Amino acid sequence: MTRMGDREAVYSAAARRFHWITVAAVFTMIPLGLGMTYRGNTLDIWDGLTNSLYSAHKLLGFLVLWLTAGRLAYRLLHGAPPDEPTLAWWQKAASHLVHWALYGLLLIVPLLGWVGVSLYPALTIFDLFSLPALAAPNEEAAKRVLALHGWLAILLALAITGHIVAALAHHFIRKDGVLRRMLPGLG
Ligand code: HEM
Ligand code: HEM
Repeated sequence: MTRMGDREAVYSAAARRFHWITVAAVFTMIPLGLGMTYRGNTLDIWDGLTNSLYSAHKLLGFLVLWLTAGRLAYRLLHGAPPDEPTLAWWQKAASHLVHWALYGLLLIVPLLGWVGVSLYPALTIFDLFSLPALAAPNEEAAKRVLALHGWLAILLALAITGHIVAALAHHFIRKDGVLRRMLPGLG
């Protein structure tokens, strides 16, 4: 017979699904953002491919915004499993800090992208439809907002790098249960 206390606490199936769908989307979005601005702003190539890269970036980023809103609502309603029991107090504090910073950036970065393309304005996606405008056109403000969007996306990439290094260090060096709590395919 297994007693409840014998089982390691893991993230729920829904929380793990949210996590790994976000990973797939953000791992696409950051190179896409850097690639399209390199092609457009740096190489000055504004052809159909560049436009399609921008459209894909806007569409997927817009979906990340709503995915994160849903994920945050789920997280606030359902909470997370208790911290892995062998962690020191500062490891718990640091992981909570990074997790909430990740949630914040996952909301703010796409929101600034959306505000930026509203101000520019550059709201059309694949010439098929347009995102709703959040602000009246103002090209100067658009440039500032999109620059901030780019810098915060780099900050997000740095936070993600630290997060992944920590997850891998827990698994391969400290050999504790931290990574297992979030792996897909748990029962
Ligand atoms: C999680 C979501 C997102 C991530 C991680 C992300 C990431 C990035 C990155 C890394 C860049 C390149 C920055 C640079 O080279 O300076 C960029 C540029 C850009 N992004 Fe996003 N983005 C996201 C969502 C969005 C959304 C939702 C929109 C609009 C609806 C958007 C619109 C843009 C635009 C227009 C640029 C070009 C800015 C410029 O030319 O200076 N992004 N993004
Ligand atoms: C785009 C990349 C990623 C983002 C934005 C991200 C975001 C997050 C967030 C927000 C949490 C907190 C979940 C919560 O408590 O509600 C979390 C937890 C976690 N993530 Fe990630 N993550 C990313 C990539 C990864 C990768 C690649 C790994 C594995 C190598 C990983 C391993 C984990 C683990 C093990 C936890 C649970 C930590 C704990 O038990 O306290 N993450 N992630």
